[in-house]
Amino acid sequence: MPIIAMSNPKGGAGKSTTALLLATYLAERGAKVCVLDADPNQPILDWKENGNTASTLEVIGGIKESNLMEHVERLNHQFVIIDLEGTASLLVSRAIALSDFVIVPLQASAVDVRQAGKAIRTIRDEEKVVQRYDAKRRIPYKILLTRTPAPGAPVSSVQRQLEAEITATNIPRFRTTIADRLAYKAVFVERLTLTELKDRAIKVGNLDAAYQNIHDFATELVEELQPTTPTEEHRER
Ligand SMILES: Nc1ncnc2c1ncn2[C@@H]1O[C@H](COP(=O)(O)OP(=O)(O)OP(=O)(O)O)[C@@H](O)[C@H]1O
Ligand SMILES: [Mg+2]
Repeated sequence: MPIIAMSNPKGGAGKSTTALLLATYLAERGAKVCVLDADPNQPILDWKENGNTASTLEVIGGIKESNLMEHVERLNHQFVIIDLEGTASLLVSRAIALSDFVIVPLQASAVDVRQAGKAIRTIRDEEKVVQRYDAKRRIPYKILLTRTPAPGAPVSSVQRQLEAEITATNIPRFRTTIADRLAYKAVFVERLTLTELKDRAIKVGNLDAAYQNIHDFATELVEELQPTTPTEEHRER
């Protein structure tokens, strides 16, 4: 049961949006998926509880540092995705420490190498804590650039430069980026999945391209998780 945390102490980086798109994609492909909604605004819980989606995605809200472990121990899902708050906190530290993989979304238009460095340092600090108990335990992570220009849209020179700076730092990052698309806002507004938006003929740009983008990202992530998926023995520690 890989536990994937969406973490960036900077607010508005695309954590909740990416978490929902990824989770609904995996659920639709038949996986048993649970989102632990630890965003104080509870956007994914709201999506599930106040809408009409038929998605099999399970969402648990009210996550606090005091009940996080208890929830995780009870879950038996193929994927658990923790959507974290946009500030540093004890809850964020705990979630990172128990995760098998951390996705660090970074909004491409506001991307700044220092900001990325801060997000990574939080992960490395938690790694040191868990390594006190298991010296071999690593917390793998990758940066995910979000709100990048959709294919065909103009790419500004500033963005190109920022992306080059990130590449130069050798911080691991996903090849796939998440484009800025109206459809990704619409999933929250309509409280539906991308597929449901398409089935209902809701006009929000190129839904096939929006779906393909999430497919590409999820495929890359699942490949990434293969070698690090913990064994039962590992998880018991
Ligand atoms: N790929 C995208 N395309 C279009 N809009 C996006 C995309 N990703 C995020 N947004 C928009 O950016 C804003 C912030 O996104 P989101 O709420 O996902 O960030 P967050 O990191 O969860 O923020 P917080 O730290 O406040 O929880 C929202 O208005 C959302 O609709
Ligand atoms: Mg959020």
